[in-house]
This record gives sequence, C-alpha cells and structure tokens, in this order.
Amino acid sequence: MPLDIVVGTQWGDEGKGRFVDLLAAETDYVARFNGGDNAGHTVHVGPQTFKLHLIPSGIVHPHTIAAIGNGVVINPRTLLSEMKNLAEAGILITPKRLHLSYAAHLITPAHLALDRAQEAARGNAKIGTTLRGIGPAYTSKISRNGLRLVDMLDRQNFHSAVIDHVHSINQQLTNLYQAEPLESNQVWDELYEAAEQLRAYVDDVSALLSEALQQGRRVLAEGAQGTLLDLDHGTYPFVTSSTPTAAGALTGLGLGLGYEERVIGVTKSFQTRVGSGPFPTELDGILAERLRGTGEQPWDEFGTTTGRPRRVGWLDLVLLRYSVRINGITELALTKLDILSGFESIFLCTHYQKNKQEFKNLLHGPSDLSGFTPIYETLPGWPEEIQSARYWEELPTNARAYILRIEELVEVQVRLVSVGPEREQVVEIN
Ligand code: GDP
Ligand code: IMO
Ligand code: MG
Repeated sequence: MPLDIVVGTQWGDEGKGRFVDLLAAETDYVARFNGGDNAGHTVHVGPQTFKLHLIPSGIVHPHTIAAIGNGVVINPRTLLSEMKNLAEAGILITPKRLHLSYAAHLITPAHLALDRAQEAARGNAKIGTTLRGIGPAYTSKISRNGLRLVDMLDRQNFHSAVIDHVHSINQQLTNLYQAEPLESNQVWDELYEAAEQLRAYVDDVSALLSEALQQGRRVLAEGAQGTLLDLDHGTYPFVTSSTPTAAGALTGLGLGLGYEERVIGVTKSFQTRVGSGPFPTELDGILAERLRGTGEQPWDEFGTTTGRPRRVGWLDLVLLRYSVRINGITELALTKLDILSGFESIFLCTHYQKNKQEFKNLLHGPSDLSGFTPIYETLPGWPEEIQSARYWEELPTNARAYILRIEELVEVQVRLVSVGPEREQVVEIN
C-alpha cells in the first residue's frame, strides 16, 4: 500500500525535513499531519536552503502536490509568509498544488499571547515552548471552541466567532495572568485579510489523499516534532500538544487504516533536545560543545525556529526501542553520522540501571526518568571525515560497526544514513 510515514524518534530536529525531501522524489503527494509553525525543517538543495515550518518539505520537488492536514494548527500569518518566501525562491504555490484541510484549526494572536503568559507564569517549571501558540490552539480545539479554516469561508459567522474567541481569551489573560488584553477588532482585521488570501486553498484533504491512495498514487506523510514530544507518549508534561507519532498521520490527515507501507523513523546519531524535560544521556562540557558545534555551521545544534542552543547527549537506545514500539517503525534513517567523525570513543546507552536492576525498556514510559542511570557501551570512533561517502563500503569500519550495533540492539534495520546536509549526502543500505 502506498502510504509512507516519516516520524522523528527523539525530541524533534532529527533531520526529518531532509529525508522527506529525499523520499519526495518518488512520491506524488506530500502531507503534514501534526503540529504547527513550532516545527522547523531544513532542506539544502545545492545553493538553496529552505526552512519549512508548516508546508511539507516535499514541496521543494516540482512534481509533488502538497497538503496540510486537519491535525495541524495553522497560524495564517506565518503560513502566508512561508508561501511568499517559497514562491520567491521559485517554488510553485497555487491552490492546485497546495491544499489546506478545512478542518485544520487556526492559531490566532490571542493564542500567541496566551502561550507567552502561561510560560511566564510557569516560572522555573516552564516547558520551554516555542511561543508559537501551539498549546493554546490545541486547547481551544480540544475544548471545542476553536476556529477552523472552514470558518473563514463565511465572513459574518467568522466575524462573530473571532470576536467571541478574543473576548474569551482576554478573560484568561487578564484574570489569570494579569496580562494585557488584545484589541478584538485588530485581531479580526488580521484574520479577515488572511482569510481572503487563503480561501482558495481550503479543501478536503482527507478526500483528496484517500482518493489518491485508492488510485495507487504514493503519499508521503511528514510528521513534525518527535515521538518523545508526543502529547500521550512523550516526556509529559514536557511535550508538545499534538500527535507526532505514526498513528497521528492517520487521524491528522483523515485516512483510514491499511494504506501504510513504510514507517520511517528518523534518528539523529546522537541525542538532542530543545526546551525543558528529562534527558538521561545529556552531556555538558567539552563533549557537549563538540556535538553541538559553535553555531558557525548551518547544521550546528541551535533551534531552526527559535535559535536556542540544543541540549546534546549520546544516543539512547532505551528511548529508541520505545519509539520503535510506539510508531511501529519499519526502518530507521540515521542522520548526522558525520558529526561523530573524530571522536576517539563513541558511547551508546544500551540500558538503564535503577536499584541495581537493569532496564532495557521503560517501566512507565519516558516521563519520569529520575533515578535511572544510563549504562553505556563504548565503541571505537573513526578519525576520517565521511561527508563524501555515498556507499556502505565507503564508510569507515568503525562507523559501520556503530550502525550495525544500533540495528542489533533495537532490532530494526537502518536503511538510510546521512553524512551531510545536502540532498545527495546519503548512504543507502540494502
Ligand atoms: P527536522 O526538524 O527533523 O527536519 O530537523 P532540522 O532541520 O530542524 O534540523 C536538522 C539540521 O541538521 C538541519 O540544519 C539539517 O540541514 C542538518 N542535517 C540533516 N542531516 C544532516 C547530516 O547528515 N549531517 C549534517 N552535518 N547535517 C545534517
Ligand atoms: P521539528 O518539527 C524540536 C519543543 C519545544 C518545547 C516543546 C513544546 O523541527 O522537529 P511547543 O511550542 O510545541 O508547545 O513546545 O516542544 N518543540 C520542538 N523541539 N523540534 C521541533 O520541531 C519542536 N517543536 C516543538 O522546544 O520543548
Ligand atoms: Mg526542526
């Protein structure tokens, strides 16, 4: 069946965008199914760099049709600016090519203000959100008073819905957080103008993709964030408010069961996280600085959306095994193997220890990892640069041994390995 799903297996920023771009070469449709513009997916094609936040990364290929599903929350202002930037970079953006689900919810300026106020109120317990209004927009959705794209199509009803929405969030802002209220007419002006520009793009994404799948066309579903940021299965409460895991592709696009073929788990060769929450294999000091980079290289570990330095550590196979289970991952795509070049030794966390007991798998999910000590296996590193490797045989023996050991310990094949950010810097393993 022709649905492939790309998910991140860690805390986001695994390099999903670059693999979606690669796989999109053989796909008819590309579809984003969760999250919002909290995501930042980077794609390098020759001299051009694309930073995508809402639009699926596969749009960079001229033959694809792109869709944003009902599981996504859309800030119309950032969507319009992304559409404009892509068009200026020579990517065709028309209603025939870009389809927005009528059932996707809107992120409004009121949601942004609430995200800011809530984070400030959390103090030391802050989640470290991207401040893009994600949590409040999904809260509106779940509490059944959100605004959907379809609402924009009826001017009069949309007007009263927006005014009510701002009024209701203003009450929270002023009563709960002592924050400044928003001017509802200003919010209306902004949303109305966006509605006029987006109206032609609103479509039934579920019908579009289901029909395509039934006709045997290939659909590539692109997840944002990562498994450990999943609202249900991640390191709750330090999570995002959507479903980045594979099942989210079905609910977030409106697809029935049974079409899926490959579930590709994109995994960084080490572990990174931006924002608060548990991170058992986290490093600091010189090793961390080497893994993170200084920020000079575009791929150094600083957030695409917020510019924050990412926390870094060794690859955690307890968490990876968990992600494989939660998603039903059929293959792994390993990124940034080139960053490990030059380390004398590389450490792989194979299991945890607590009260002298060994844990290969999590006891009660990943939320409370306090008291679990990561236990490492030490593997020899490799001194060679590997950015020009294109075949398995061109990788140093120790790099191959690292990949084989990961496969062995998580019992899933690594099918793709990237050794640099460019489209062609990939080793396919058969
Ligand atoms: P995403 O959110 O999962 O799509 O990942 P991001 O785009 O936020 O972060 C991944 C970063 O690593 C981007 O800057 C990519 O260009 C870069 N990248 C991806 N794969 C590789 C790789 O194999 N090697 C190097 N050096 N950089 C990579
Ligand atoms: P991509 O798709 C990495 C993190 C935030 C914060 C938490 C909640 O590029 O992998 P939110 O704004 O969603 O309410 O923040 O989730 N986060 C990400 N971290 N990559 C992302 O997206 C992220 N999107 C959200 O840093 O810890
Ligand atoms: Mg990212």
